[in-house]
Amino acid sequence: MTPAKQKATNVTWQEGLVTREDRYQILRQKGATIWFTGLSGSGKSTIAVALERALFRRGKLSYRLDGDNVRLGINKNLGFSEADRRENIRRIGEVAKLFGDAGAISLSAFISPYASDRDEVRRLHEEADLRFVEVFVDCPLSEAERRDPKGLYRRARAGEIKNFTGIDDPYEKPVNPEIHLRTDQLTVKEEVSAIIDYLERHGIIDTVRIDGSLRPAERGDSSRGLEPGSAAAGPERSDASGQAKRNVSAGDAR
Ligand code: ADX
Repeated sequence: MTPAKQKATNVTWQEGLVTREDRYQILRQKGATIWFTGLSGSGKSTIAVALERALFRRGKLSYRLDGDNVRLGINKNLGFSEADRRENIRRIGEVAKLFGDAGAISLSAFISPYASDRDEVRRLHEEADLRFVEVFVDCPLSEAERRDPKGLYRRARAGEIKNFTGIDDPYEKPVNPEIHLRTDQLTVKEEVSAIIDYLERHGIIDTVRIDGSLRPAERGDSSRGLEPGSAAAGPERSDASGQAKRNVSAGDAR
């Protein structure tokens, strides 16, 4: 996606008297965006809900931006054409960036099927010096279709819904996500702890010490992060060929 064109002229960014750092200080956290991407029914919203709860229990302010919810409000004028999906993601990327600047950890759960759109949201965040963590909520289509929590796959197969992701519309898998979760092989609890683990290791949230005290995120040591593709949490499983296969991986490339 090419960045959206600036239409309005004679507009300039207005600085306030309270800085982002000031806001971070009163919230005792840094803003960040956790971006879940995956097929409908892959588990994005379920994980975001559980992660929001886990962060809340640690005293962290997060806020869910969920595809279905957002499409009932700010994006109610958008459908599922390629252009509308791109605009959906562009707007949410901007909203997540504002939330991050405000100091919240936004948990964004959208199919976001196009890699270039996700990359553009990443670029927006990097340009604004905000952390962006892409989580690939990876679930085979057959399993998402088996779950079919909203009965939409069945309707798409019956031809009642057109342009349904995975059926007659594309989904481009992330190539190098920060976190890769196989939701057909993990529990929600394991998935949440993999993400929390990543956020701690990268200094995005405080690390809870054994004695229960907190090590501030500011002093988080990101160099202790995992090697690309190494397991962050959850058991390793073997596939039929006996090769170790990871169902959770957290890259440290970014
Ligand atoms: S995105 O592609 O633009 O990122 P988004 O996450 O906002 O999609 O919305 C996806 C949700 O809308 C799905 O979980 C499903 O409930 C619903 N939906 C309705 N029609 C479609 C469709 N044609 N393709 C995908 N999801 C659809």
